Amino acid sequence: SSVEYIQYHGILLPPLAHSMESLEYAEKFSVEDSDVFAVTYPKSGTIWMQEILPLVLNGGDLTPIHTVPNWDRVPWLEEKRLALVVDKLESPRGLVTHFPYHLMPPSFHSSKAKAIYVMRDPKDIVVSSYHFHKMAEFLESPGTFDEFIEKFIKGKVLFGKWTDHVKSWRGADLGDRIMYITYEEMVQDLPAAIRRISDFVGRNLSEEAIQKIAEHCSFRTMKNNNMSNFSLVPKKYMNSDTSPFLRKGVAGDWKNHFSPEQLARFTSAISKDLEGESFSLPWSLD
Ligand code: A3P
Repeated sequence: SSVEYIQYHGILLPPLAHSMESLEYAEKFSVEDSDVFAVTYPKSGTIWMQEILPLVLNGGDLTPIHTVPNWDRVPWLEEKRLALVVDKLESPRGLVTHFPYHLMPPSFHSSKAKAIYVMRDPKDIVVSSYHFHKMAEFLESPGTFDEFIEKFIKGKVLFGKWTDHVKSWRGADLGDRIMYITYEEMVQDLPAAIRRISDFVGRNLSEEAIQKIAEHCSFRTMKNNNMSNFSLVPKKYMNSDTSPFLRKGVAGDWKNHFSPEQLARFTSAISKDLEGESFSLPWSLD
């Protein structure tokens, strides 16, 4: 399929959810001090954080995750829906964004709003994104897995190069307004991850509340929740018969997709892009 992506400050955005108006709205958006942004490169655990964040902020009240679709519950800063639902958001507001740091609105920088940056092993991001491009009819077809790896390395994919995204947010000078977490850490011990998130946003949750939130944010529970699994999106946009949005939910699926040659090529390209950076990745690349 041929899809015309929106070009915005050097990155590509899909036209279904974004428009020049929505991007202008994001630029002028008035961030509040109590806002918490979940920040991700696509396929790093966005909707997972979308599920967790309101439950942490509201102390474990399950009402929103059963009554409001995820995209309206914790809307994307850059997407069209934000303007339509902004007045319904309860304070403190949870928001998500795929923006690199330098595209955050001026009001974010002048506020005390917090950001949770979720990182995922880029090899698993490529795999997840590849399957997502097959099911998401509003995106370009991915081509072969090998072709898709090349596009990913070159940054000719949604929201640009993964390494640029990581560099921008790892280099963000936000002090204690930012917390870094990995998808892998969440897979390994979700209650511990939720505890870290609740400490970061200043919610003192009981052990019982944390366990309850973890249960409702498990892969299986989210997969069965229509408000979280994207089944409300018409099939002509997202065809879950091809591949469900909540596909596997594991760390390390790349081992089932990469050849040794692809792994070597991928690792060397990513390492080269990150050469000289002062941060280290939380996992080894190979
Ligand atoms: P897979 O395709 O590897 O299964 P995003 O929300 O940023 O688009 O990321 C989607 C990825 O997060 C998918 O990865 C999806 O299955 C995974 N995911 C979503 N909710 C999850 C959960 N509760 N537990 C584990 N993985 C989850």
